Amino acid sequence: MPRESVAGGIAIIVDVLRASTTIVTALEAGAAFVKPVVEVEEAHRLRSSSNGAWLLGGERGGVLIPGFDLGNSPAEYCRSVVNGRGIIMTTTNGTLAIERCVAAEIVLVGSFLNRSAVAKEAVLLASNRGVNAIHLVCAGTNGHETEEDFLGAGSIIHAGVLESNRNHLLDSKSEKASAEFRRVVNGSSDAQSQLLESFHQSLGGRNLIDLGMESDLILAAAMDQFRLVPCLCLKTGRLVSFDAL
Ligand code: MLT
Repeated sequence: MPRESVAGGIAIIVDVLRASTTIVTALEAGAAFVKPVVEVEEAHRLRSSSNGAWLLGGERGGVLIPGFDLGNSPAEYCRSVVNGRGIIMTTTNGTLAIERCVAAEIVLVGSFLNRSAVAKEAVLLASNRGVNAIHLVCAGTNGHETEEDFLGAGSIIHAGVLESNRNHLLDSKSEKASAEFRRVVNGSSDAQSQLLESFHQSLGGRNLIDLGMESDLILAAAMDQFRLVPCLCLKTGRLVSFDAL
């Protein structure tokens, strides 16, 4: 995706397995901020500049990076660990996708956990600030689109369309993503199980299962668990809860 394609719009970054799920979880658990960076060296340098006050989190190849405090499992970002702490995070695809969207007017982070909240906020912001385009940016895996991100984007689009009382136009890919979400969930009262089944077939899901991290799939499928919407402060480059901006 060329950087300029989101310029002036609202970008919602989706990396269901697992960066966006983990960022939402960390902020919900009271982290002061999440600072996404692309390179491991940059993360170490920033931590040194904080005199060790900030935590280092993220993954390479799905696993803990040597010298880091936390991996990329949402389960690790519990209140007792992250409350009040700044976190510097680098992941293979998710933090890279965030970095590629800094030309957007507003950058939000979406996952199944906060999909209705992020959709509502984006629709509201677009109408209040006169922004015409909301871009769902799927992080994917090493340049490949993944089913779980496509589905996550579809779930946000579906919620956004229900939220929006203005005329909206979906491009064909957004139509497809929303239809795919509706097909998978299919009016089920147990959407989490349906999503989980689909994660098991997806590229990101299979990678995590191979690494013995299947329990993260369950955490990532907890639809609408939180109201929190991470938003990138373009001045500091930190993600904080939109309400705290
Ligand atoms: C990423 O950003 O590449 C992912 O979230 C990968 C992972 O968590 O394993």
